[in-house]
Formats: sequence, structure tokens, C-alpha cells
Amino acid sequence: MAYRYATERTDHSALASGQVLRSAPGFPGFPVRLASELLQRALAHTTDQGESPVRLWDPCGGSGYLATVLGLLHRDRLAHVRVSDIDEDAVALAARNLELLTADGLAAREEELRRSARDFGRVEFVERAEAARDLAAGLASQGGDLPHEVRTADVFTLTDPVDADVVVTDIPYGEMTSWGGSAPEEDRVGAMLRSLGGVLPRHAVVVITAKTRRIALPEGVRALERVKVGTRAGALVRARDVAP
Ligand SMILES: C[S@@+](CC[C@H](N)C(=O)[O-])C[C@H]1O[C@@H](n2cnc3c(N)ncnc32)[C@H](O)[C@@H]1O
Repeated sequence: MAYRYATERTDHSALASGQVLRSAPGFPGFPVRLASELLQRALAHTTDQGESPVRLWDPCGGSGYLATVLGLLHRDRLAHVRVSDIDEDAVALAARNLELLTADGLAAREEELRRSARDFGRVEFVERAEAARDLAAGLASQGGDLPHEVRTADVFTLTDPVDADVVVTDIPYGEMTSWGGSAPEEDRVGAMLRSLGGVLPRHAVVVITAKTRRIALPEGVRALERVKVGTRAGALVRARDVAP
């Protein structure tokens, strides 16, 4: 795949998992440049091509890494970020990461890293504290605190309407994470898409990605676009095309 939007090889080291953003064993990160490209491709399919800020949702959000990275990189194009996951430990970690979408959250993280630098006398902590400070400056310059919400939810059994315009989600592929909830193994993507289609506005754009050769969409569902980068594949679909 040729990058269409994230065309420059920008230094994203401040966003690396476990630097300022928190990680834990069993929670995968996500390539930052690809995350940016996928969001921007989705924005190009929104009603006004992403002119107005959109509400983003990651319903298999894990640690919240992907959603937080997108919030920090594209704050000016987003109005709200929502993360849900079936796993309560993931949701707790995601809540701490999404706090980094605020000036207070980043200031607290910078202070924590400066304290570690003093306590352990290690230069890496100073660099990480400086990265937190730089992320705070970036957030402020793009519009400031980004409203966000985190909750526990099974993506197969969603019932309440969700006000989101764009979904970007990295689904389990059995490396570090696996599926929970109940859906036929051979139709998990279909079950997830029907569930999402039942709660999202019809105009919403859903981006699914995974470490796989190709995202298998249910019969009759046409992708708006497909992407393939290295070991990852992605598919963009319109919510109304997957609504039950
Ligand atoms: C590849 S990980 C997501 C990584 C995430 N994008 C991040 O940045 O940390 C997949 C996530 O899907 C979650 N998951 C598995 N089954 C689920 C279900 N039925 N509903 C919601 N989340 C589910 C797992 O708990 C895991 O956190």
C-alpha cells in the first residue's frame, strides 16, 4: 500500500508504547504511521471529508494505545474519543492512557517521570518527561483537552446507540490478545460488524485492522477500501452497509 496521507516518515518516538503512553505485558502497541493513515482514510469517507471534527471509537480498544495516539496526533480533527473493551484490566489501563488527552493528565505524567528520574538517576526518565511536555505543547496547539470516555463492553452484544462517526479498531489475532464474548469463530468479524452497524449512525465509517493476510468481510458487504501493509491488513466499511 502506498501511504496517501501519512506520507512523511515523521519521528513518532514520543508516542512509542511504554514511553509516555502506558503499556503492560499482554497489551500490543500499533504502528503510529499506519494508525494515522487509517484515520485519515476514514475521514476522507465522512460526510464532509473530515472538515468538521469527528467522534472516534475503538470498541476493541485494549490499553487505549491506538485511540490515544490518534487523539494526540489528530486532536484538531477529533471532537471526542471513546474506547471500550471486554476486559476490565484493559479498560482500567485505557482510562489512564486517555487521561493523556488532557493538559492535566500530561502534566501529571511529566511530573511522575521527573520524580522517577530523580529517584533512579536515569536519563531515560528525563527524556520521557520531556516527551510528555512536548505532547502537551502539541495538544494545546491543536485545540487543547480532548473529551473522552472509557467503558467495559462486549463488541458482539452492543445495544445502546453510540454517537461515533469513525471507528478504528485493531481486532484480536491471537498473538498477544484473543477474542472474548460469544460469536461463531468463523464469523467473528461479521458478528462484530452487525453489532456495530446496529448501534452506530448510518453514516459512520468503520476501519478494522488485524495482523492477517486479508480481513474477511461477510458475504455481500463491500469494503470502501482495503489496505495491506507488511503483516497487517485493513478494511474500511460503511455502517449502513453492515447494519442488521
Ligand atoms: C489487538 S488488541 C487491541 C489493541 C489496542 N488497539 C491497543 O491499542 O491497545 C484486541 C482487544 O480486543 C479485546 N476484545 C476481545 N474480545 C472482545 C469483545 N468481544 N469485545 C470487546 N473487546 C474485545 C481484547 O480484550 C483486546 O484488548
